[in-house]
Amino acid sequence: MAARQDTIWEQFLAPVVRLFIDEEELRRYARSIDWEKESDRFRRPEVKVPVYYSSQNFHGIKGGYLNSGAAVSYDPITQYVLLPNETLVRQGLLERIRVKPSRIIDLGCGTGSTTLILKQAFPQAEVIGLDLSPYMLVRAEDKAKTAGLAIKWLHGNAEETKLPAASFDLVTISLLFHETPAQVTQAILQESFRLLKAGGEAIVLDGNQQTLRHLDWLNNVFEEPYIREFAQGNLDVWMGKAGFAAVQTDDVWLVNQVTRGIKPLMQETGDRRQETEEDMVITEEWIPAPGY
Ligand SMILES: C[S@@+](CC[C@H](N)C(=O)[O-])C[C@H]1O[C@@H](n2cnc3c(N)ncnc32)[C@H](O)[C@@H]1O
Repeated sequence: MAARQDTIWEQFLAPVVRLFIDEEELRRYARSIDWEKESDRFRRPEVKVPVYYSSQNFHGIKGGYLNSGAAVSYDPITQYVLLPNETLVRQGLLERIRVKPSRIIDLGCGTGSTTLILKQAFPQAEVIGLDLSPYMLVRAEDKAKTAGLAIKWLHGNAEETKLPAASFDLVTISLLFHETPAQVTQAILQESFRLLKAGGEAIVLDGNQQTLRHLDWLNNVFEEPYIREFAQGNLDVWMGKAGFAAVQTDDVWLVNQVTRGIKPLMQETGDRRQETEEDMVITEEWIPAPGY
């Protein structure tokens, strides 16, 4: 897991964070799982890994998210970098939800921290977490099993999920867009719009664009290849361009923001992408076994 040595993170913050992390415990956990075998259960060969994703390191980890090291270290680090507190920040997303969802998809779910909170808040809903990294999904599934939560984990690209149009009431996206180039962000928003039923909502939690713009040094803290592009953009505008209405962004503890948008009623027929025969059909087997 080679890391860049010139970021403020590697020079100053990582050594401090390491003081609070039980690295031996993490190593034990990492060794307790056959990552290749477990990630193969999720891996779908038809999912093409985009170049923006495979060509970059994220947070200084070589290979980005396509390795077990990222899956093991993500949660212990995230708990210290989401200020003032990870639970409060994720709660900010939950508080903006207005629909009573029966089907939810969490795009770029990672290790499932937001996905688990959603399932706890809406136990009757079918909840799907989708991510490009099968390793992150192994960790997510493990967390859900420990918590006794029935969540479906799916390997896929949020730009083109191949899931049926108008099949979700709620799409959530947390901490993804500061890691995607602007045109990928736009494609994911358009896909979110397509996936939603009319009247459904998309909720996006991420770094606060205004704050990031004004505190440019923050963008040097971590190795985040696309964060400047994100900071220069405007999520309200991107959401509007994707077709969302009543778009509103609120600060979450200054450092983060939550943006909410609705797919207007009467819009289902205006979905931007036609379905194809390759598209997935959601069948009974999608519903996890009772008592999972
Ligand atoms: C910073 S993590 C955020 C994880 C999680 N949502 C959270 O709130 O902690 C970004 C995640 O997005 C995933 N990702 C990046 N681009 C993606 C794409 N196009 N489709 C699906 N997942 C993607 C990465 O694999 C990674 O797990």
